[in-house]
Amino acid sequence: MSPTSAAAKAPAAEPLFEPYQLGPLHLSNRIVMAPMTRSRAIDGNVPNPLAETYYRQRASAGLIISEGSQVSQQGQGYIRTPGIHSPEQIAAWRKITAAVAREGGKMFLQLWHVGRISHPDLQGGSLPVAPSAIAPDGEVFTFEGPKKMVTPRALELSEIPGIVEQFRKGAENAKAAGFDGVEIHGANGYLLDQFTRDGSNQRTDAYGGSIENRVRLPLEVTQAVIDVFGKDRVGYRISPNGAYNSMSDSNPRETFSHLARRLSDLGIVYLHTFDPPSGANHLAPHLRTQFKGTLIVNGGYDEASGNAAIASGEADLVAYGVPFLANPDLPHRFDRKAKLNAPDQATFYSGEEKGYTDYPSLGA
Ligand SMILES: Cc1cc2nc3c(=O)[nH]c(=O)nc-3n(C[C@H](O)[C@H](O)[C@H](O)COP(=O)(O)O)c2cc1C
Repeated sequence: MSPTSAAAKAPAAEPLFEPYQLGPLHLSNRIVMAPMTRSRAIDGNVPNPLAETYYRQRASAGLIISEGSQVSQQGQGYIRTPGIHSPEQIAAWRKITAAVAREGGKMFLQLWHVGRISHPDLQGGSLPVAPSAIAPDGEVFTFEGPKKMVTPRALELSEIPGIVEQFRKGAENAKAAGFDGVEIHGANGYLLDQFTRDGSNQRTDAYGGSIENRVRLPLEVTQAVIDVFGKDRVGYRISPNGAYNSMSDSNPRETFSHLARRLSDLGIVYLHTFDPPSGANHLAPHLRTQFKGTLIVNGGYDEASGNAAIASGEADLVAYGVPFLANPDLPHRFDRKAKLNAPDQATFYSGEEKGYTDYPSLGA
């Protein structure tokens, strides 16, 4: 057998394990840890010291995206979520990014404003804000237990620059905390998604109505964040078909194609779409044609479907949520074809160490 034919017969390396150049960052593989709220922040919404261990344990991801981190008190919708707006929060995040970097990992912070998905109990008694005064269904978990969500207050036109400023400042703080970049949370029914989709945005000013108007705030926020980090360190997350948090849109394909094209024009480094491939209107293949940068897909992927998404050219990177939550050494387990730990749903949002830093790695 000639060396050439031996090479031809060698099995192709798994696409998930190919390194990837994300802007200036060299990622050691294409496995991304999806952003996941773990509701373990301590007083002052400061990241729990345990978060240093939690993220360090997962530093073998090509890229970690942090749990959603509110850019302001107004941006908080759940108890014990960390913020990125106080000196104490920045100091705690700095320890986390340093621990991840020591392991050779890369980490983005997810910038979050929940908009109407909140409660006056988390807002010093004030109403949550939103594009329009439309109440979402469901309950918020407050310090006194679950409470029904209220009708939010529609933001005044004069308040919009203040929202942009919250994100800009959040990006500046994330930079000071040592993050490699930031992901803007435009998914899952939070503030920027509320502006983007017409089920939650019924404004009649320059920030509502046409698709151009509805994506105005998301694009202004993105530009402000680019001004801080540079476009090759900024990503944006969407969930075009998600109904979570009472979301709907009359034409998701058109809305999110437009947003993807405009984000592409701004030159951000990635678009991250939560859009399970099993969904009826799976948009990733279409978004691929609309957005020129890196595409990250997420939503129910396993090793085989992740490899297939990259091999087919549908995506560049694949984000894993629950599998990474329960398996700190997920890339290693994929590589070894090893059994995965079962996730414990009861400790997703509580439990301190339990269900957080105590999932075993292989051989541990
Ligand atoms: C415990 C938990 C917390 C989550 N928190 C966030 C979050 O803060 N920001 C976000 O964009 N998505 C969040 N998500 C959604 C995940 O990022 C991901 O989209 C979802 O788990 C689907 O991916 P998977 O099938 O690989 O788990 C969360 C999911 C879980 C399970």
